[in-house]
Amino acid sequence: MSSRQPFVRLNDGHCIPALGFGTYKPIEVPKSKSLEAANLAIGVGYRHIDTAYAYQIEEEIGQAIQSNIKAGIVKREDMFITTKLWCTCFQPELVRPSLEKSLKKLQLEHVDLFIMHYPVPMKAGDNDFPLDEQGKLLLDTVDFCATWEALEKCKDAGLVKSIGVSNFNHRQLERILNKPGLKYKPVCNQVECHVYNNQSKLLDYCKSKDIVLVAFGALGTQRYKEWVDQDSPVLLNDPVLCGVAKKNKRSPALIALRYLVQRGVVPLAQSFYESEMKENLQVFEFQLSPEDMKILDGLNKNFRYLPAQFFADHPEYPFSEEY
Ligand SMILES: NC(=O)c1ccc[n+]([C@@H]2O[C@H](COP(=O)([O-])OP(=O)(O)OC[C@H]3O[C@@H](n4cnc5c(N)ncnc54)[C@H](OP(=O)(O)O)[C@@H]3O)[C@@H](O)[C@H]2O)c1
Repeated sequence: MSSRQPFVRLNDGHCIPALGFGTYKPIEVPKSKSLEAANLAIGVGYRHIDTAYAYQIEEEIGQAIQSNIKAGIVKREDMFITTKLWCTCFQPELVRPSLEKSLKKLQLEHVDLFIMHYPVPMKAGDNDFPLDEQGKLLLDTVDFCATWEALEKCKDAGLVKSIGVSNFNHRQLERILNKPGLKYKPVCNQVECHVYNNQSKLLDYCKSKDIVLVAFGALGTQRYKEWVDQDSPVLLNDPVLCGVAKKNKRSPALIALRYLVQRGVVPLAQSFYESEMKENLQVFEFQLSPEDMKILDGLNKNFRYLPAQFFADHPEYPFSEEY
C-alpha cells in the first residue's frame, strides 16, 4: 500500500483504506470499460475497491484483481474488496449462496467487506427488480435482522473479514445494534454523502457507535440517466465549491473528497480516466482550513441524487427518516 493512503480502523479490528474506488457503471457503458478502469485504478495505487452483485461487473473486477496479482503489482492481502448483498437475497438461507456466487465471479476466497445494499428486501428469484403485472416492485417482508445473522455466519465461516450495511437510517442501525444475541456490529454504513448532503446527524450517530460512514456519490454521482434526475445540480460545478478549489489551488473534485476525509468519512470516488484517478489520490496531500470547512458545511441542503424512490412504498424505505 502506498504510504500516501491512510487507513481507518473498523470496530472489528480490521482496517479500511481511507479512499475507495467506485465501480458502478451505467447500463450503456460496456463491461470492458469497467475492467479497464479497475486495472488502471489498481495500477495508479487504489487498494480499496467497491463493487456489488447488482453492478453485474464482479467478473470484470475479479479479472482486474487477478491480473494485477499475477503481474506482481499487488498482493491479495494489500487489497480491500467490498461487495454487496442484493435485496432479492435477504432470506437468510440465500445469503451465503449469494456471497459464494460473488466470490466465484471475483475469483476470491474471501471479501474484505460484505454489506447489505439497502435495508429493503425484495421478492427472491432470478429478477433483480421483480415486478408484478402492474409493474410494481414485488417486495418481501423478511426482517433484515435475520439477514444480519446470516452475514455474521459468513464472517464466522471466513468468507468475509468484515460485515456492514448500506443506505440504513439511524433507526435501522439501532435495530441491528439492539438485536438480541448480536454477535458483530456493522463496521460501516455506506450512504450518499457529499457537500449537498453532508449527513452530519447520521455521521455523529455512526461515530457514537464506532461505525464508519462510507460515502458514495461524493463527487455528485455519475448522473446515470436511469437513476439520477438530469435536472439536479451538477455538484462539481457549484460556484462555492469552485471558489474554495481556486483558493486552495486544487480541483473541485479534490475539495469535495477532502471535505469528507477531514470529517472522518471514507469516500468512494469513481472515474474511467487515469488522470482523474491519480488526481483523486492527492486527497491526502493537503488540508482545508476550518474556515473553508465551514464554507463547505454551508452548502448542505440534504439533497439526494439517489432517493431510491422505487423503494418508497416499502415500510423499510430508509429516507423518510430525517437521518
Ligand atoms: N451503496 C449504494 O447504494 C451506492 C450507490 C451509488 C454508488 N455507490 C458506489 O459509490 C461509487 C461512487 O459513486 P458514483 O459512481 O455514483 O460517482 P462519484 O464518485 O460521486 O462521481 C463520479 C463522477 O465524478 C467524476 N470525477 C471523478 N474524479 C474526477 C476528477 N478528479 N475531476 C473531475 N471529475 C471527476 C467522474 O467523471 P468522468 O466522467 O470525468 O470520469 C464521474 O462521472 C460507485 O461507483 C459505487 O461503487 C454505492
